[in-house]
Amino acid sequence: MAFTIAIDGPAAAGKGTISKAVAAHFGFAHLDTGLLYRAVGAKTLDGTDPIAASLALVAEDLDNDSLRSPEVAQAASRVAVIGEVRAALVDFQRAFARRAGGAVLDGRDIGTVICPNAEAKLFVTASAEVRAERRYQELIAKGTQTSIETVLADVRERDARDRDRAEAPMVAAKDAVVIDTSSLGIEDAVAAAIAAIEAARA
Ligand code: DC
Repeated sequence: MAFTIAIDGPAAAGKGTISKAVAAHFGFAHLDTGLLYRAVGAKTLDGTDPIAASLALVAEDLDNDSLRSPEVAQAASRVAVIGEVRAALVDFQRAFARRAGGAVLDGRDIGTVICPNAEAKLFVTASAEVRAERRYQELIAKGTQTSIETVLADVRERDARDRDRAEAPMVAAKDAVVIDTSSLGIEDAVAAAIAAIEAARA
């Protein structure tokens, strides 16, 4: 049986952690759709044309630790404004969403554009300051040299580009349950997500 859980929201709000925990809880497959845009963005850093990169994307391109860097995140956000890039990635995401056994997809436009008929929709958010602090701690733990000001500016720049673009902007679907993780720990955020999905399943 297919059952799609769409989880959208801005960078570092806890979407990834919640999506993985929800997928494990329900025994569903999980797709981090940001990785698709990151893989395309990473290729453009070598000078490859973004549309050509999106059309040539293969599964192995997603399996690369360097996709997590702040430079690749910004490149991903830049290629994500291009309609042809987004169009090239639609079929793969929709097929994943309808696979037998259930699927969790996290991104920016899953509940609005990719899977408007998803059985459950969440929009996970938090203040820019809280998200920047979390991302800063992650980067420091990985040994990256940066400052909180740089990370906050980066978060704000990416939010604005993702939110204000013409194609599939980041916005909560009208029927999404909004979870603000600004003052929630991981366990409480995951519990809130599972409760909202259980309510949609009932
Ligand atoms: O979720 P993330 O930080 O890995 O996403 C990287 C960028 O990719 C994000 O800034 C915008 C883009 N993106 C998108 O436009 N639509 C999605 N469904 C997922 C990501």
